[in-house]
Amino acid sequence: MLSVLKNAFNHVETSDEILVGRKIDNDPKVENLVNDLIDEVMVINSEISSVRPPQASLMENSKKLIDKTGSLRGRPLYHNYIGTGAGRGPYVELEDGSVKLDLINGIGIHIMGHSNPRVMKAAVRGSLSDVVMQGNIQPNNDYWKLTEKLVQIASRKSRLKHAWFSTCGTMANENALKMARQKNSPAKYVFAMKNAFAGRSTMMAEVTDNPAYRQGLPSYNEVIHIPTYDKKDPQSSEKAFNKMKEEYAKHEKDIACFVFEPMLGEGGFIPTPREFYVPMLEFCKKNNIAVWADEVQTFARTGEFFAFETMDLGQYVDIVTIAKTVQLGATLYTEEYNPKPGLIAGTFSGGSASMAAGLEILEMLEEGYLGPNGRILKIHQKFVQGLNYLNETTCKGLAQDAGGMGLMIAFTPFDGKKEQVEALIKKLFANGIIAFSCGKEPVRIRFLVPAIIEDQDIDLALEIIEKTILQGI
Ligand SMILES: Cc1ncc(COP(=O)(O)O)c(C=O)c1O
Repeated sequence: MLSVLKNAFNHVETSDEILVGRKIDNDPKVENLVNDLIDEVMVINSEISSVRPPQASLMENSKKLIDKTGSLRGRPLYHNYIGTGAGRGPYVELEDGSVKLDLINGIGIHIMGHSNPRVMKAAVRGSLSDVVMQGNIQPNNDYWKLTEKLVQIASRKSRLKHAWFSTCGTMANENALKMARQKNSPAKYVFAMKNAFAGRSTMMAEVTDNPAYRQGLPSYNEVIHIPTYDKKDPQSSEKAFNKMKEEYAKHEKDIACFVFEPMLGEGGFIPTPREFYVPMLEFCKKNNIAVWADEVQTFARTGEFFAFETMDLGQYVDIVTIAKTVQLGATLYTEEYNPKPGLIAGTFSGGSASMAAGLEILEMLEEGYLGPNGRILKIHQKFVQGLNYLNETTCKGLAQDAGGMGLMIAFTPFDGKKEQVEALIKKLFANGIIAFSCGKEPVRIRFLVPAIIEDQDIDLALEIIEKTILQGI
């Protein structure tokens, strides 16, 4: 045994072909098996082609599964949804036999839809690696490849230079906050926007401007909320900037960062003009307050990879957080904000399958989805035009204010009352569309549309929306 090892060490090969890992990567038999596997699953999935109602014979068992899941976790499911694990494009099959048109995609994870063969293949190849979950001290190649890709796309129009993985958007945000606070130590206060959503940790529940999400938790009072853009108020930009200046006058060097979502998600998908942010961003730069864009929801959806590119804000950002579409969380930061050793770590950096699939998704997005003539903006136009048409014709005044950015689309149904919107979401689900809500007053219907949706699927979505609105609430 010892002599075998000695020989192995003495034998110097110039090519990396001696590596077993590379043999697995390049083995034609493995490649054919993976291709055959995906092809076979896709043949079976091809039975799924459009929306289908529940099947009577499956409904009882499905209800049992839904109830059991709710009881096990101590809280019922929001939708009557247990997936079978099968889907195709924007369609997903549920245990009750129904097929739904999925316009929310796990709140924005599945940008390439369900059972996308390229995403599945990347995930399967990732799963063939020696470990399920990669950690920060023992990365495999997937780790640096995805980091390199993110840094490369992020640095094209900003000073961002590094990326650090985490398993979700909340943790990416926690790392961002720590970087901002460390660099600007001992500053502790955070400027955030009203109606912000930042995640579910104790601190992110405070950055989030929704008391219902921190009921019973103590207040740490470290976050100052700035008024959001109000398109009906011509003074809105000035009001926000004045609030920032007033608060700065009170706290001065104690402000560590300004975090903003380029377009607020929970805030109702109201696009915010660049000019609204610029005075505040200039002010932050002048006063060494870290500028942190929370792109957990906007990343890969606005027609460019980053909303800071779409909105031409790249020159200002020091830290950017992403998650969802890239299948794990990541914090991107400039040289200046690179933290000292010890500040960020964590056991998990991400699953091998997630990293491989995340990289594949980024590469797919570069194949015709981005840019002013890319598919994402075409989807946006068609969908929003269709909603506006309904609002002007058959559903007069009942589908107002359709808009958003790219694949993030919302409209206000009826009077935008919470109960009306909740009832409509349940009816849409029964009629075959999975949606969610956003915004407060008004509450809106939110869609996170997959990039692979075809025009005929958008037509079907509009038909179902029309039919459901006309059924009333
Ligand atoms: C803007 C924004 N920030 C942070 C988060 C939290 O991300 P996660 O749920 O992955 O922790 C979300 C999730 O919806 C989000 O939309």
